[in-house]
Amino acid sequence: MGLFITFEGSEGCGKSFQSKVLYNKLYDLGIQVELIYEPGGTVLGNEMRRLLKKRREDDVVPETELFLFAACRAQLVAEIIQPSLQKGKIVICDRFTDSTIAYQGYGRGIQLATIETINCIATKGIKPNLTILLDLPVAQGLSRKKTKNRDRFEKAELSFHYRVREGYQKLAAAEPERWMVIDATLSKTEISNIIWDRVSQLLDLLHINYTTP
Ligand code: TYD
Repeated sequence: MGLFITFEGSEGCGKSFQSKVLYNKLYDLGIQVELIYEPGGTVLGNEMRRLLKKRREDDVVPETELFLFAACRAQLVAEIIQPSLQKGKIVICDRFTDSTIAYQGYGRGIQLATIETINCIATKGIKPNLTILLDLPVAQGLSRKKTKNRDRFEKAELSFHYRVREGYQKLAAAEPERWMVIDATLSKTEISNIIWDRVSQLLDLLHINYTTP
């Protein structure tokens, strides 16, 4: 089995940037690595991504959101995550099941036990080995996003974003061996160094050889 690393965090925390930095480092070392993101990452998933993010007049009820995210995930797991891990690759995913717990659970108020059941069906039980949380105060994160053309999530009321951040912090505290929490107000270089320290330790544990970048 390979190594599965996920990035999580609220709006504007910088996880897409940091997941690319990690991908590039691993790739440059000649390590077999895949970088994917949620929602999306497959043809069908990208179609659903558009539906989920689009600003719209009609209401999307939380349960619909939950099933759409889970549907994207099921496709991504079957098409990319499971086969890549079986080939021994490192898979980096920008958001995964914890996003659903934070956003649809803590944010929208769906019962956490329900979400866990649905997540488990979508992932076939696959869990990340390491989850990196880039933790950032809500106001700071939102101010990093452009004000024009905000998507449905970026436009949600402030209290929703506070609940999401708090949800992540609770998840990380409940499972400290899987989560690594990083202060996302640090500089980009400091953050990528912290991540690399941890990931290189994991590579050593798995006996994956590399030369220091
Ligand atoms: P995206 O543009 O990918 O944002 P980000 O760069 O913050 O990841 O948009 C994805 C949005 O979907 C983001 O606001 C979080 C939300 N989301 C959920 O609500 N539940 C989920 O399970 C996932 C994967 C994402």
